[in-house]
Amino acid sequence: MTLLRDEELTAAFDHAARGYDALAAVNPGYHAQLRRSVRRLGLPGHGAGLRLLDLGCGTGASTAALRSVLPAAHITAVDASAGMLRRAAAKPWADGVTFVRAPAERLADAGVTGPFDAVFAAYLLRNVSDPDGVLTAVRDLLVAGGRLGVHEFTLSGRRADRAVWTLVCRGLVQPAASALGDGRLYRHLWRSVVDFDTAARFAARVRAAGFAHVRTLPLPGWQTGITHTFVARRPETAR
Ligand SMILES: C[S@@+](CC[C@H](N)C(=O)[O-])C[C@H]1O[C@@H](n2cnc3c(N)ncnc32)[C@H](O)[C@@H]1O
Repeated sequence: MTLLRDEELTAAFDHAARGYDALAAVNPGYHAQLRRSVRRLGLPGHGAGLRLLDLGCGTGASTAALRSVLPAAHITAVDASAGMLRRAAAKPWADGVTFVRAPAERLADAGVTGPFDAVFAAYLLRNVSDPDGVLTAVRDLLVAGGRLGVHEFTLSGRRADRAVWTLVCRGLVQPAASALGDGRLYRHLWRSVVDFDTAARFAARVRAAGFAHVRTLPLPGWQTGITHTFVARRPETAR
């Protein structure tokens, strides 16, 4: 299959929005691992005075993780899919979050100009047509020294990890998603991970986009070797 991109991908997420939280709920550790990645940003205290951007917020699982770890921060949550965003905005914790419908490639057109103290992107970058362009734009939205956190399916490069990923997708995720009428999106999920960067390649991509202090951190459980947190900073001085 070919990967879904841009409007086609957004339409697929619009349709999948109603089943997204149910599928996330049966993924062991989905929410705990997002919170772990947020903690890895190493932001101080409860986030008082901090401006955070959740890029590709979906139905709000990553936004909820930001709220839980940094409850005093101001969060802007962006997604291209109106269906996903509507679900996020209806969550009980959503008061005080600024939700914006926009593609990650055209944030300024939607009035998202920063600056931000941190940008978090969970399960987004493998889905965009130009990850380098989005990373560079994100860097420019950050204050000097601002943090980037990426939580993403990025295989280790070991055959065993790819085999586990294929088994999970074919045996569990795709049958459940097909029953909900979202088979195409979840076939895209499998392919988008297999085709995307390994963890080492993605870390190099983040460095090439002008970030410093890039670290790659594994996640526990079945996602070890499959999903990683990447943390990095915008350099204090311009390059
Ligand atoms: C797999 S979901 C992840 C949602 C959420 N971050 C989470 O952790 O559950 C990916 C989200 O990215 C959004 N997305 C994909 N491509 C995008 C783009 N180019 N610009 C903005 N959002 C995009 C989709 O609409 C979808 O809601």
